[in-house]
Amino acid sequence: MKDEVKNIKTLEELQNLYTSVFGKNGTMTAKLKTMATLSNEERAVVNAENTELRQLFKEKQTELETATLNAKLATEYIDVSLDCEPENRGTIHPLTQAMKEISAILESFGYSLWTGPEIEDDWHNFTALNTPEYHPARDMQDSFFLENGNVLRTQTSSIQIRAMEKNGVPIKMFGIGSTYRKEMDATHAPMFHQIEGLYIDKNVTLSDLIGTLRALLSKFFERDIEIRIRPSYFPFTEPSVEFDMKWENGKWLEMGGAGMVHPNVLKNCNIDPNEYQGFAFGFGWDRMAMLKYGLNDLRKFYDGDIRWLKNSGF
Ligand code: DAH
Repeated sequence: MKDEVKNIKTLEELQNLYTSVFGKNGTMTAKLKTMATLSNEERAVVNAENTELRQLFKEKQTELETATLNAKLATEYIDVSLDCEPENRGTIHPLTQAMKEISAILESFGYSLWTGPEIEDDWHNFTALNTPEYHPARDMQDSFFLENGNVLRTQTSSIQIRAMEKNGVPIKMFGIGSTYRKEMDATHAPMFHQIEGLYIDKNVTLSDLIGTLRALLSKFFERDIEIRIRPSYFPFTEPSVEFDMKWENGKWLEMGGAGMVHPNVLKNCNIDPNEYQGFAFGFGWDRMAMLKYGLNDLRKFYDGDIRWLKNSGF
């Protein structure tokens, strides 16, 4: 029997032999059944044989399993130096990247993020912003109107109205998102992106506004940015200004509009202009993204050309 076990070549044969010895009708099983009739010495012999045989089977099993594994390892060789399929990773769109950066900066200044709908009603997009229906300033923006009188938000200024209506004052908020106007060339698209900041409290001044704009742009472009303001006109601010920043080539670039929030706007949001005052600013940040990342055609942002997106450094 011992030799039989030793000569076995496969796990399957071993299993069969094991069953014939230790199975229900196995030879050893039969022997063990007769134990009660045996003398002490005979029992000791059977017990020893039983233990030895089981041990033998176990060793043989380990031996055969190791051999099988080694054979497998020898044939199923994996070449870890082979090239694998290129991984197709997504990239962050430059506009998304810019939005995240600007938002993080304003949040660090204590402004909280508000959102508003892109299909806006007349009240929030125009009327509450001191631009009633007869107001000539409505012509400043080539709006997309819907048949029901709503409008595709022409400016994120609508978000400041929503925030003041809901939150009251004091308030320090910003809104960021898509805006729509009928225009299209290398620097204008019918959908573009604006950011709107608003800070209303009892002692907020125009110089706070200038400091904020300068700090915001300096943080975004990661260097000290010089800005200047020029008198301008917006229905929702008084006084109104436009602000420019000095670019690397020494040229002044127009960035956006700002001013002290008009008393009528505050009244429209049930805020007493004799007690509260503050500033608002708004600008498009598509161009900021272009400047920061060195991209020169706004339309490329929306072409959906993956090669361009991949090559734009993201
Ligand atoms: N909404 C203006 C625009 O789209 C930009 C603007 C100007 C926003 C002055 C403001 C502001 O908050 O105070 O042209």
